[in-house]
Amino acid sequence: MREKLGLLVCLWFLLYGSCLGRFVVEKNSLKVTSPASLKDVHECAIGNFGVPQYGGTMVGTVLYPKANQKACKSFEDVDISFKTKPGGMPIFVLADRGDCYFTLKAWNAQKAGAAAILVADDRVEPLITMDNPEEENAQADYLQNINIPSALISKALGDDIKKELSKGEMVNINLDWREALPHPDERVEYEFWTNSNDECGPKCESQKEFVKNFKGAAQILEQKGYTQFTPHYITWYCPDAFLLSKQCMSQCINHGRYCAPDPEQDFNKGYDGKDVVVQNLRQACFFKIANESGKPWLWWDYVTDFAIRCPMKEKKYGKDCADQVIRSLGVDVDKIDKCIGDTEADTDNPVLKAEQESQIGKGSRGDVTILPTLVINNRQYRGKLDKGAVLKAICSGFEETTEPSICLTEDIETNECKENNGGCWQDKVSNITACRDTFRGRVCECPIVQGVKFVGDGYTHCEASGVLRCEINNGGCWKGTQDGRTYSACIDDHTKGCKCPPGFKGDGLKNCEDVDECKEKLACQCPECKCKNTWGSYECSCSGNLLYMHEHDTCISKDVNTESSWGFVWAIILGLAAVGIAGYAMYKYRIRRYMDSEIRAIMAQYMPLDNQGETFFSAERTFHGRQGSDLAGFDPSFSLNDDDKQDDLDLLFTEILFIYASSR
Ligand SMILES: *[C@@H]1O[C@H](CO)[C@@H](O)[C@H](O)[C@H]1NC(C)=O
Ligand SMILES: *[C@@H]1O[C@H](CO)[C@@H](O)[C@H](O)[C@H]1NC(C)=O
Repeated sequence: MREKLGLLVCLWFLLYGSCLGRFVVEKNSLKVTSPASLKDVHECAIGNFGVPQYGGTMVGTVLYPKANQKACKSFEDVDISFKTKPGGMPIFVLADRGDCYFTLKAWNAQKAGAAAILVADDRVEPLITMDNPEEENAQADYLQNINIPSALISKALGDDIKKELSKGEMVNINLDWREALPHPDERVEYEFWTNSNDECGPKCESQKEFVKNFKGAAQILEQKGYTQFTPHYITWYCPDAFLLSKQCMSQCINHGRYCAPDPEQDFNKGYDGKDVVVQNLRQACFFKIANESGKPWLWWDYVTDFAIRCPMKEKKYGKDCADQVIRSLGVDVDKIDKCIGDTEADTDNPVLKAEQESQIGKGSRGDVTILPTLVINNRQYRGKLDKGAVLKAICSGFEETTEPSICLTEDIETNECKENNGGCWQDKVSNITACRDTFRGRVCECPIVQGVKFVGDGYTHCEASGVLRCEINNGGCWKGTQDGRTYSACIDDHTKGCKCPPGFKGDGLKNCEDVDECKEKLACQCPECKCKNTWGSYECSCSGNLLYMHEHDTCISKDVNTESSWGFVWAIILGLAAVGIAGYAMYKYRIRRYMDSEIRAIMAQYMPLDNQGETFFSAERTFHGRQGSDLAGFDPSFSLNDDDKQDDLDLLFTEILFIYASSR
């Protein structure tokens, strides 16, 4: 259509004094990394079909087929395949220009497994943009299926590569689209040059499809302030000499100021060019009014709804139908009518005048001559009009790291994770992976799953961390259940790591084995103990009347065990009682000794008492008791000899009361 439109413009209208639009060939860079003799960075032109990897790079090795060198036939017919062998580099097919559409060459290369196609120009000239075929009968069905990138290279570079390949050299190339679009800041400005005409064949169909599919993403980006979008419409003007011609009368509004080609290219039937201009103007006005009310994204709804509800073939392509759509979106029809103004009047329309002005390229920005055209950050997008491909390009227009999350979603994934999980970490059991497809290619980054953050290098390991980490796949740790009991090697408050619970040994990750406490002599080893291992623990029983005390790993008497706290009190009481009794006994003994010596002294005055001292007063008290160092083993039995039993018991109770009182 580019050439056809150019022809129309040159024959009928003069577009601002020139019929040669300044078309800009959008380029990316091609870096030859080997052989050394060819090492350099070259420019190549991005084809306007397929999916250029905007924002990314691609590495491959060049193959120039022995047969079918123009790639106009299917490579299956000549038994050639470009499929990459495992571990091999992707293959870039080098094909010669000529004999068939660029798109057919790309399609044949893609079908044979090529990762990209490089088309070598067949003449010495500046780089051109490879475009889609315009003819309606071109097998358009495959066009939308082309998804490999394509690049046109100069004849000279093509010849150099072929020469090296013929010498048996391997030619490796890095295709780089990172600088194909400027990416200066965190907002992307983009324009879509479009047309309300819905009867222009495959191009109009793909444009309608694109608007419908891209609408959701466009609206999110716009609502969140990530992008500033403006729709645009191309119009021409009718030179004065032709103002009264039938053509200009049917194609133009406002006295030949704004024109569009007839949809059917037949002035006598169907809708005329001027109907298209008016609808284009209505869409432009809709955007202006919606933008003024702070909701520019409503344009996407309007255009989609209008295409569905008011198609030309149902003869609904007019004001009545359009107004219904406008009202249903809650936009003021009167404001839009006012913006459109009187299309029969001999006056300028400010909206269309502005459109005509922005059609002309400035600086690095080329004229808009292909419809539809997408301009992103002032550069024309090349590639197919497909949601994923366009989103990828818009995303590459953000300053790195400022991309909105929509740029990191599966909508524009590169599908690199599908194969071998992109070489990233993966937990096969829980299906958690660190591979994430992004528009720049895959990244290996430990994920966040159900609010639990995984940490690690993303390539060889990732580990759940934080408070809830055991909720996910038990934190990657071992867990076992037997006989209704469950043990886990994951502890929630640990920031990381797995540790077998007590009673188990192992790495904590894949296995924890029960420890046989009995065999390994870890517990229950006292002479009275009988050990029995259980899963995760052990059972210990004591012979006779004894009880097993787990904390002390020993057997003790049952009674004490049940009243151990009383035993403690008793022990203190009796201990002190013993001290008291001993003191009292000493006191009595001293008195007796004193009286003894007095009596002896008196009696000695009357008779000799040489050997009777030891037996005369032999009343001795004995105290039996065991005050064990272990309170639990204290035996409270004791005895006093008969003589002073009552006496001493009285004393004992006095002492007990005393101690009791003072210990409070
Ligand atoms: C849309 O509105 C914004 C902010 O109100 C303004 O900056 C922008 O120029 C407007 N766009 C058009 C095409 O009127
Ligand atoms: C893992 O996820 C992939 C893709 O989501 C799915 O095809 C596969 O069946 C899953 N495997 C398991 C074990 O859940």
